[in-house]
Amino acid sequence: MCGIVGYVGEKECVDILLDSLSKLEYRGYDSAGVAVFEDGKICVQKAQGELKNLRDKINSTHKPVGGCGIGHTRWATHGEPSDINSHPHGNERVSIVHNGIIENYKDIKKFLTGKGYTFESETDTETVAKLLDYYYEYDPIDAIIKTLNDVRGAYALGIIFKDYPDTIFAVRKDSPLIVGTAEGENYIASDVPAILKYTKKYYLLEENEIATIKANEITFCDIHKKPLEKEVQISNLDMNAAEKGGYEHFMLKEIHEQPSAVKTTITPRINNGMPDLSECGLTAEKLDSYKNIFIVACGTAMHAGVVGKYVIEKLARVPVTVDIASEFRYRNPIVGKDDLVIVISQSGETADTKAALHLAHDKGAEVLSVVNVKGSSIARESDMVIYTHAGPEISVASTKAFSVQMSIMYLLAFELAYVKGTIDKEECLRLTNELSNIPDKIEEALACQDKCQYVSSKLITAQSLLYIGRGLDYALSMEGSLKLKEISYIHSESYAAGELKHGTISLIEEGVPVIGVATQSDLLEKMVSNIVEVKSRGAFSICVCKEGEEFDEGIVDERIEVPALEDVLMPMVTVIPLQLLAYYTTVLKGFNVDKPRNLAKSVTVE
Ligand code: M6R
Repeated sequence: MCGIVGYVGEKECVDILLDSLSKLEYRGYDSAGVAVFEDGKICVQKAQGELKNLRDKINSTHKPVGGCGIGHTRWATHGEPSDINSHPHGNERVSIVHNGIIENYKDIKKFLTGKGYTFESETDTETVAKLLDYYYEYDPIDAIIKTLNDVRGAYALGIIFKDYPDTIFAVRKDSPLIVGTAEGENYIASDVPAILKYTKKYYLLEENEIATIKANEITFCDIHKKPLEKEVQISNLDMNAAEKGGYEHFMLKEIHEQPSAVKTTITPRINNGMPDLSECGLTAEKLDSYKNIFIVACGTAMHAGVVGKYVIEKLARVPVTVDIASEFRYRNPIVGKDDLVIVISQSGETADTKAALHLAHDKGAEVLSVVNVKGSSIARESDMVIYTHAGPEISVASTKAFSVQMSIMYLLAFELAYVKGTIDKEECLRLTNELSNIPDKIEEALACQDKCQYVSSKLITAQSLLYIGRGLDYALSMEGSLKLKEISYIHSESYAAGELKHGTISLIEEGVPVIGVATQSDLLEKMVSNIVEVKSRGAFSICVCKEGEEFDEGIVDERIEVPALEDVLMPMVTVIPLQLLAYYTTVLKGFNVDKPRNLAKSVTVE
C-alpha cells in the first residue's frame, strides 16, 4: 500500500527520495509526490500514476534543490487516484505524508471548515495536515500532540514545518515507520528496503512515539513530551535481496529462491533430527496443553493455513479451524484462554490479521505468529513468533512466503503429532528428514518451467478457468487459482473436485481450461473420475501430478509432473507449477507481473 520516505542531510534530497520511493513501488500505488525545502520554502511536486510520471514532471518543470524533504507513494482509499489527491498534503506552513486511514476525518473537516479552512482534495490526510496547521504555534511537537489527541485511526506520518527547514518529524500508530540513521544524514521510511541502499541502521518507532530528525541528531519523545532513549537496530537484509538479480521479474526470482528460503527457515528449527520450535517459547508441554487450534490469515497466508490444517489433523489428530482474518474478527469466534491462535502473515502488517490477533488476545487466547518481516507489528504483538526466513518478498504475488509458511506448518504438525503420541519418534525423525530434503526437491520441481511456459500459452485466451483438487490438492488449487487471477486478470475459481457436480460443472463447455491437481495417491482414482467428467464435456484438461503417474490415454490434454514425494509433503513441490503457470500466463498477456492493478503488497487498511 502507501509508502513513506524522508531524507535530511547534505545530498540532493529529491534524487534520494525518488530512488527510495522506487524501492517501495512493489507495495502497490497509484500516484506519488515529494515535498522538499528549497530556499526555506516547501516545494511540492506530485503526479498520478507511476513514479516515472513524477520523475518526468520534476525534470520537465522544476526540480527542487535542497537537503530535507519527504516523499510518498499513494494507494487510493479516500478519493480517486489524481494529482490533487496525491501526497504530500498541507499548505505553505506544513506538509505531510501519511499511511493509514483517519476514521474521523469528516468530523475534523467539519470542525476546520468552521474555522475557515478550505480543502482541495478528497483525502482524509489533508484534514490531518490542516489540523496540524491549526494547532501550530511555532512548537511542532505541541502541534503534533494536539493533533494526535483529535484523530482516530491508523497513521504513519512524515511531517515538515516551514519554520524548521532542517527537520523532519515522524510519528506512527498502527502503521509501520522507521527512522534510518547514517553519518551526517538521516531518513524515515515505511519499510526497511526503501533505505537499505543508504544505511542498515534504523530505529523502530513504537506507537505514538514522536521522532525529531535532523542531519546530525535524532531525538524521540512520547505523547507527553517525555524524552525517550531508543536502541538502534541493524537490518540483516541483503541489499541485493531487494533487486531483481538478473531475473526479468521479482516474482520469477522469488519462485527460484524457494529452495534456499525453505532451507534457511527449517534448518534452525531441527534439533538432532527432531522438530524444535521452542526458540519462541513454544515448548512441547505448551503445545500439548491447548484445547483448540485456530489458524487465521488472509490470501496466500490463509492457504498455507489450510495446508497446516490438513497436515495437523492428519498427523496429530487435533482439530484445527482455519479462518479468513476478516471473517474471524467479526464472527465472535468461540475462542478462549486454553486455545492457541496461529496468525500467519508475510508482511506482519495486514490490518485484518492484526485485528484478529487483537481479538484473540481480548478473548484470552495465546497467539503464535508466523511472520516474515522482522519487527513487524504482528510479530511484536504476538505472545510467540516464528520468523520465516524468506528474505524480502517484493512481488505482490506471494510465492516464497507461501513455501516457508507451509514448512513451518509441517514442523508444527510433526512436533504436535509426536507430543500427542500419534506418531512415534522414529516416524517423527523420518518425516523431519524428508522435510529437510525438500529444498532439493523444489529445485527439481523447478525443471517444469519450460513445460509451464508452453501450457501457459494455451491459457492466455481463456475467459475463465477452474482449478480442482481434493484434500491437500484442494488447498493448493485455491492457491493456484488466486495466483493466476491476481496477476493475469483471468477469472478463475478453485473447487473441491467432489463438489463439481453440485453446480459448477455446468460452467464447463468446449475449451474451458480445467487444472486438476492430482498428487494424493489415495484420492487419485476419484480425481481421475472428475477429470474425465470435465474432459467429456469439452474441457481442456491440464493435470499436475507426481512424475510417472499413469493415466488412461486421452484423459489429460497436458500434464505437468513434479517430483514424487509422500503425499503429505506434496504441496511443497506442487505449488511450483501453479506459480509458474500464473507467472508465464501473465508475461504472455503482457501485464505487469510484479505490480498487478488495484493490489498492494501489504494490505494495511481494512
Ligand atoms: O502479508 P500477508 O501475508 O499478511 O498478506 C496476506 C495477503 O494479502 C497476501 O497473501 C495476498 O493474498 C497476496 N497478494 C497473494 O499473492
